[in-house]
Amino acid sequence: MTTTGPARTTGAVAPVVAPMLELRGVRAAYDSIDVLHGIDLVVPAGQVIALLGPNGAGKTTTLKVASGLHPAAAGDVFIAGRRVNGARADELACRGLCLVPEGRGVFPNLTVRENLWVMTYAGRSRSEIEEAAYARFPVLAERRHQHAGTLSGGEQQMLAMARGLATDPALLILDELSMGLAPLVVEQLYGLVADVAAEGVSILVVEQFARVVLGVASRAAVMVAGHIVHEGLPAEIEATLSESYLGAGETEH
Ligand SMILES: Nc1ncnc2c1ncn2[C@@H]1O[C@H](COP(=O)(O)OP(=O)(O)O)[C@@H](O)[C@H]1O
Ligand SMILES: [Mg+2]
Repeated sequence: MTTTGPARTTGAVAPVVAPMLELRGVRAAYDSIDVLHGIDLVVPAGQVIALLGPNGAGKTTTLKVASGLHPAAAGDVFIAGRRVNGARADELACRGLCLVPEGRGVFPNLTVRENLWVMTYAGRSRSEIEEAAYARFPVLAERRHQHAGTLSGGEQQMLAMARGLATDPALLILDELSMGLAPLVVEQLYGLVADVAAEGVSILVVEQFARVVLGVASRAAVMVAGHIVHEGLPAEIEATLSESYLGAGETEH
């Protein structure tokens, strides 16, 4: 969906495309404890945006608010230019939003293909979903009869991404893709994320450990204690991180 901007007298009229996701002044709480204190975040269409920050900063809560799993106490959430505060997670999924949660969310006791078949609710056939998943992640084809719980961490993350992509989302949200994985595996996964982005899918990635993500992101934001404390180009953000324990943590990772 595109809308044309105000008429101009010279040159072509550039289409004005709303950001895929925008949070404005979002606050959120658990019971009476405030954890988000006014978050502004924009994911422009077709870009990869990284949201970084230490454990407990509020990154996952931000994603939950964006995907309708936790209410905003104040502020606005827009998806493709429409305010969606109060919409349920399944309604937002229908608008093209897909969250791959922390901890991957695959069913360990189902086989790889059964995990993919679950996604037929979105309207694509089993074989269509399997074919797309195996084309993107060939190792999943080799593992298709294995229980997901027996896959390596990297393979489980690929399965989680394949499940998310089965719904053909416009916005893919990835929470801590790298958790518990070896650096080489993380690098490989982010290569795949870059491939998905190159197809035009907008992506919001949350990570505690920053360097690899910054390699694929267009812009990044750093969150600390429920506030965005830095926002900018990856190189600018990397410079701020090297002075903080975020960067130090990464070298140990
Ligand atoms: N379900 C919950 N109930 C109560 N407090 C929570 C819950 N989930 C997270 N929190 C608290 O909210 C804050 C932000 O958590 P979270 O969004 O998970 O941070 P991050 O993803 O950056 O590690 C933390 O202080 C955490 O303890
Ligand atoms: Mg988290």
